[in-house]
Amino acid sequence: MVVVVAQSLALLIPFSISSCHHHPTYRRLKKPIITCSSFSSNAWGWNVNRGKNRVTMVSGGSSGHQQQQQQRKRRKVVEHICFLKANKDLSDEQEKDMLDYLFTTQYQMPGILAISLGRISDKNVESFSHAVFMRFQRKEDLAKFYQNPFYSGVLKEHVIPYCHGLTNVDYESEVEDDLLPIFRKGEDFNTGLEFVLLITFSESAIDEPAKDALASLQALTEEHQSLIVQCTQGSNFNSSSEEYTHGVIIRFRSFDALEIFINSSEYKNVWSSKFQPIAKKTIAVNFSVEPVGTEIM
Ligand SMILES: *[C@@H]1O[C@H](CO)[C@@H](O)[C@H](O)[C@H]1NC(C)=O
Ligand SMILES: *[C@@H]1O[C@H](CO)[C@@H](O)[C@H](O)[C@H]1NC(C)=O
Ligand SMILES: *[C@@H]1O[C@H](CO)[C@@H](O)[C@H](O)[C@H]1NC(C)=O
Repeated sequence: MVVVVAQSLALLIPFSISSCHHHPTYRRLKKPIITCSSFSSNAWGWNVNRGKNRVTMVSGGSSGHQQQQQQRKRRKVVEHICFLKANKDLSDEQEKDMLDYLFTTQYQMPGILAISLGRISDKNVESFSHAVFMRFQRKEDLAKFYQNPFYSGVLKEHVIPYCHGLTNVDYESEVEDDLLPIFRKGEDFNTGLEFVLLITFSESAIDEPAKDALASLQALTEEHQSLIVQCTQGSNFNSSSEEYTHGVIIRFRSFDALEIFINSSEYKNVWSSKFQPIAKKTIAVNFSVEPVGTEIM
């Protein structure tokens, strides 16, 4: 069983190196050797047959749209967002050093199922300059990640010297229970735009109204699969940033897809009727995700 999963993943690799940053240096990064152990030892109980079918579908180039139309089981994941405020005098070289080290943590440390990061080019109220997104299987894996000396070392040597602020928001969410959506691999995830939203709901609205707003947004993203590959959202459990009550991450297929969605009357309605009345503060940023290369290994 394990062997089959490993083969499936090996087949996925040529389609899956979605490093995700528009900084050209990321193309230089070596492709990871994805070993079976990091995926198989955690007893996720993959549906192996479905995994195999999916691989065939991917290599045949079928669209994500078709795949997602089928109702599928969902699986819990833990999403980690880290927003950085880089110093004004950050040089290109320093930026590259910082992002390279953050990006390669996925190959040096266990538990990171998916990662994307990039530079935020527009001005935002908090002047966040860079964003990092990582996905874990369980809260325990995220806790181990925070405590891992390798990660502390990366922060100490390659991030904190270049930054004057760091905000971590973590939440639990669900994704479709299949390899590609969980690991964010495959053609659908190779390119696109990451849209990250942090929200501070007013205390009185935390229960029903906030849940309702988020459910409406989630439903809307699921109705627009031609624009959106995946959306997760949930309530922030990191006490170091409890000011932000919720996080949302939406992977758009392109910058145009983001614009079309944000401009749509459906989104504007949901935003003005459900979010605006109860959100004390929101921060929305986006960064581009670029393929690293698609040549077969
Ligand atoms: C996405 O980022 C661009 C800058 O790269 C900015 O101009 C645009 O307003 C952002 N869009 C949203 C919806 O936040
Ligand atoms: C919250 O983030 C901090 C770093 O800012 C980390 O040390 C801590 O373990 C996180 N807490 C939880 C509950 O994840
Ligand atoms: C979205 O709206 C803005 C401003 O209203 C406009 O400049 C832009 O062209 C629109 N984009 C799309 C894709 O409709």
